Amino acid sequence: VDLKKLLKSLTIEEKIGQTLQIAPFFFNRDSEVEIFGNKTNTYLTQEEIFYAGSVLGIGSAEEMIQTQKKYLSKSRHKIPLLFMADIIHGYVTIFPVPIALGCSFNPKLAYEMARISAKEAQTAGIHVTFSPMADLTRDPRWGRVVEGFGEDPYLLQEFIQEIVKGYQGSNLKDEGVLASCVKHFAAYGAAEQGRDYNTVDLSRLSLYQNYLPAYKKAIDSNARLVMTAFNVVDGIPATVNKFLLRDVLRDQWKFDGVTISDYDSLHQIIEHGVAENDREAAVLGLNNGLDIEMASVCYTKHLKSLIKEKLLDEKLLDEAVYRILKLKDDLGLFDNPYKGASIENEIQFIKSKEHLEYAYQAAIESAVLLKNDQILPLNNIQKISIIGPYLTKKRTNGPWSWKGNQTDNSSLLDVFSNNQHELHYSKDCLNISELDDRDLSYLQSSDIIIVAIGEEVKESGEAHSKTDIKIPRNQAKLVELAKSLNKKVLTILYNGRPLDLSDIDNSDAILEAWFLGSLTNEAIYDLIFGKQVPSGKLVMSFPHNVGQIPIYYNQLNTGRPKVKDVHNEYVSYFLDAPNEAKYPFGFGLSYAKFSYTNLKLNKNKFTINQSIDVSIEVYNDSDYDAYEIVQLYIRDYVARFSRPLKELKGFKKVYIKANTKEKVHFTISKNDLTYLDSNGNEVYDYGKFQVMVGPNSVELDKLDFELIKE
Ligand code: BGC
Repeated sequence: VDLKKLLKSLTIEEKIGQTLQIAPFFFNRDSEVEIFGNKTNTYLTQEEIFYAGSVLGIGSAEEMIQTQKKYLSKSRHKIPLLFMADIIHGYVTIFPVPIALGCSFNPKLAYEMARISAKEAQTAGIHVTFSPMADLTRDPRWGRVVEGFGEDPYLLQEFIQEIVKGYQGSNLKDEGVLASCVKHFAAYGAAEQGRDYNTVDLSRLSLYQNYLPAYKKAIDSNARLVMTAFNVVDGIPATVNKFLLRDVLRDQWKFDGVTISDYDSLHQIIEHGVAENDREAAVLGLNNGLDIEMASVCYTKHLKSLIKEKLLDEKLLDEAVYRILKLKDDLGLFDNPYKGASIENEIQFIKSKEHLEYAYQAAIESAVLLKNDQILPLNNIQKISIIGPYLTKKRTNGPWSWKGNQTDNSSLLDVFSNNQHELHYSKDCLNISELDDRDLSYLQSSDIIIVAIGEEVKESGEAHSKTDIKIPRNQAKLVELAKSLNKKVLTILYNGRPLDLSDIDNSDAILEAWFLGSLTNEAIYDLIFGKQVPSGKLVMSFPHNVGQIPIYYNQLNTGRPKVKDVHNEYVSYFLDAPNEAKYPFGFGLSYAKFSYTNLKLNKNKFTINQSIDVSIEVYNDSDYDAYEIVQLYIRDYVARFSRPLKELKGFKKVYIKANTKEKVHFTISKNDLTYLDSNGNEVYDYGKFQVMVGPNSVELDKLDFELIKE
């Protein structure tokens, strides 16, 4: 398609239409319909609807084909509609929620998740997914931490890169791939108090060093769209933020894809107090680089008159529309507007055996064993009882699984029966008051009590922030009760954010199962009985209490650091809690026992274009073959900016056979020592560094080295 020619032939209304994204039901109504937003401007005419360029959310091939057909029959130029949807951690085959998948420290699994999601979702004619979420997350009060990959910029980038590649494949024209829309640009995860949509107030330095790299990684991996965030950055809503959308995205990063607002976020800049009405919002949006407006109508209702009155340059509209048309062309939609949509494919591809196998493997690798006082793995002869609300719950997919039919999932109770494993006793209960004497006597006569508790799915995700991140009191009491019977207690947690676990601390074992997707409980069963060995490690720190938040491992030093075991009143500490996390970043247990020895560098001085080989021996002193995630951190002692006490710069997930030793190697080179300054320029400093290697961000072996001038 000659896009330039096509663009030229469009009327201004047709061009403006391309910038509008609406829900599918609009096309299937015959009268004027009301949508969200400012009362005076809520009506889209039939004409406006049939100019719209893209659709938000479509659930089946049938619906897609019908909508596209109707649309094209009314379209002068036969420009196909673009269908976008939120495919976040699987389409029908559901993978662990992102925060869990991150804990696998296995970005290749995220690649498979994305590849499989694309293959399944395209059978419904979806072309674009609003994923990955590249927002760095440091505040567990924020409900959307469940959608991210945690607090570390390096690990986050590794995941983002693989996900974009997995969705997009090698050619967007192929069937079975999706264009990837990275979100929420930028710094959405830094909302104050963890309250969703709240103010973000960050230094440029932190923005460049911590928050921006993951979005950039997505773009460098060729993500074709960028979604703006709901929040302000430097007082300007991200949706109309020139610094973000033009200076960083277009000028610094050379992004030439499509930008899209978040849901209604262009209109919401009125609430932010930077525009008086939709008309002003339209001016700010187009001028500052927003191409598609999702779910509000500022552009549709006002661009025409604004351009006519020369208050906006039509050239800007042309540029935006060109990018949108180009995306449609790159996706091959002009040749085949129904690409991928097929009822037969839905049947063939969805939840195939291969897809479920990957989902299972991902679930196994994503669970994190937080505590194990010699009770796991369990065995078949023990008398096992289970209590708690998650005994029978099948809602284990986590947020964003609108197509993942949860009734197909197995509850914990189901998996015991699928394994012909008779329980000593079980009771689905939320409160101890539901347990009578008979129940207690059963519990009393068991060897192990499993308490299956946590958060409900709707307690995390968008707009689901919390100030109290403890296990709900009534559920914690179930653990207390089980302990009071002098029983061994395994607590299995289903939840979407790091929690304050102080109330269930006396459990003998704690398995953080998150929401592991379609095969959540199958994976849990195999893990607790030792058919599989837990290997996940946390991607967000778990605090002792909510007052420690934000808590993240890669903090700066203070001028008055607290030194362990030295008493000094005037140092940086809390009177009532430690500085450190309860369970730190990178932490997770195994049934195997690993010990680290012989950290070595092949040199201790080098110049910037050389590299250093780091090696360490990891010994598996146990009878379990198992994965270990070996982590490498670096500290830059003296630099022009105060630098973090440690930063993850590498990790290796190695499979180590029982009673054997593996030598693990890393290379340190320029990339690991450079960082961004407050203008986004890469810099590095000569002088002393420290390298640290170990099983988590705290238990580390350390050596110094030096970067010298050539
Ligand atoms: C969310 C986005 C999502 C969009 C479309 C918004 O409310 O913030 O993450 O992609 O809705 O569903």
